[in-house]
Amino acid sequence: MVSEHGAQVLVASNRGPVSYAVREDGTLDAKRGGGGLVSGLSAIGDEADALWVCSALSDGDREAVRRGAGEPGVRMLDIDAAVHSDAYNGVANSVLWFVHHLLYQTPLEPTFGPEFRRQWAAYRTYNQAFAAALAEEAAQGATVVVQDYHLALVPGMLRALRPDLRIGHFSHTPWAPAEYFRMLPDDIAEELLLGMLGADRLGFLTTRWLQAFQACCGAVLGSYEVMTYWPKDATPSVGYRTPDGRFHRTLLGVHGLGADADFLRERSQRADVEERLADLREQIGGQPGGEDARKVIVRVDRTELSKNIVRGLHAYRLLLEEQPQWRERVVHVAFAYPSRQDLAVYREYTAEVSRVAQEINSAYGTEGWTPVILHVKDDFARSLAAYRLADVALVNPIRDGMNLVAKEVPVVSDEGCVLVLSREAGAYAELGDDALVVNPYDVVGTSAALHAALTMPAEERAERTKRLAAAGTALPPAQWFLDQLEALRG
Ligand code: G6P
Repeated sequence: MVSEHGAQVLVASNRGPVSYAVREDGTLDAKRGGGGLVSGLSAIGDEADALWVCSALSDGDREAVRRGAGEPGVRMLDIDAAVHSDAYNGVANSVLWFVHHLLYQTPLEPTFGPEFRRQWAAYRTYNQAFAAALAEEAAQGATVVVQDYHLALVPGMLRALRPDLRIGHFSHTPWAPAEYFRMLPDDIAEELLLGMLGADRLGFLTTRWLQAFQACCGAVLGSYEVMTYWPKDATPSVGYRTPDGRFHRTLLGVHGLGADADFLRERSQRADVEERLADLREQIGGQPGGEDARKVIVRVDRTELSKNIVRGLHAYRLLLEEQPQWRERVVHVAFAYPSRQDLAVYREYTAEVSRVAQEINSAYGTEGWTPVILHVKDDFARSLAAYRLADVALVNPIRDGMNLVAKEVPVVSDEGCVLVLSREAGAYAELGDDALVVNPYDVVGTSAALHAALTMPAEERAERTKRLAAAGTALPPAQWFLDQLEALRG
């Protein structure tokens, strides 16, 4: 039954804008989340008839659902914990994330056996729960924007339930090259693409990812008379013959999410950031402006395999080894915030990051100089303090949908900074001209780029920072989201 008073705009994502914890006294503590997805979609907060559908991810979230204590405008789905774990850990983060970021280590990975089939069934169930909730909550003709690889099947499932809706899907990840994508079992690759093509419109962060998606459709959906269009001056699309004989066309578009300049400038001047700035300065040592001033290389990431933190540390070690003039003159401030710790490979990676950082500190550190300052406890104010101090920002992912850190640091850094940027980050499409671009696997090249960044003349650095900040904030989150709604309704 279509509700008369349903929402006009709906967003669906695995991680929602708020999370709950149960305090000792039994009351609920609500925390607003951060990150690109959350800040991007916060624009919807102004629309009174908007609803965000997301998963309950913690005991606190599940308790909030049980008590009916959720925030207005947010509906959390309390999906069976085992189903959620199979869908989120098993399929989304261990398979789809790995496929799109080219993370498998052959010859042993991947192997798709009966266990994966079981997890895929859970992924379907989990997507179906979202489709059902959206179908229940949406007003007649409402607009729905589904987010990311966790929910690839939702567009098709929702269309079957509610053909009156305008359905969009946005991918925050890269999209895999067709040869890599075809590692997925054929029937599952097909189901996933057809699920997404159930949308009226699919959004991507860059043209490169959009074209990779089209290539996958061409390679996988041969039996559906698939036609991929990339017309000059017109909207790209994928058309195909549906199993019931109709011809369906899904439009594709690029929306390069940018950083929020106003928010960052204001937020990074607050007292809590100033406090952390003072702490960091003390840890870094040297006398700013003095003869023993130290340069600062900053990186801020989730501890994520695709972020390539370990190779970044190896590149820094090589710099200290081969350019000894930097010893005691530079500090690498590396913030690596734990992520997806339910997965063993992420736990191992987190340990490896700490191990390599310690190795560098034992090999080169002196009484008054710690070469690597590694922090693993997530602290947004401290991240902003590090941005402010950055002389160099190191963003070297193996592959990344966009990477907002690359766009944020140039806005916030007090003295301007040089961006060392992987050509495999989506941000490269917009920032490549003014960054020092590296191949993320090439540790020697990355080390050389760090040296070039540290020695760049102040004037050139200032000019580049200005252009990077302008390009990186061209499409702030609110506009990014509204553009998608407009295109979808168009
Ligand atoms: C990426 C994904 C998001 C995800 C985020 C954090 O940016 O595209 O969908 O929410 O990582 O990952 P997590 O698994 O902690 O939600």
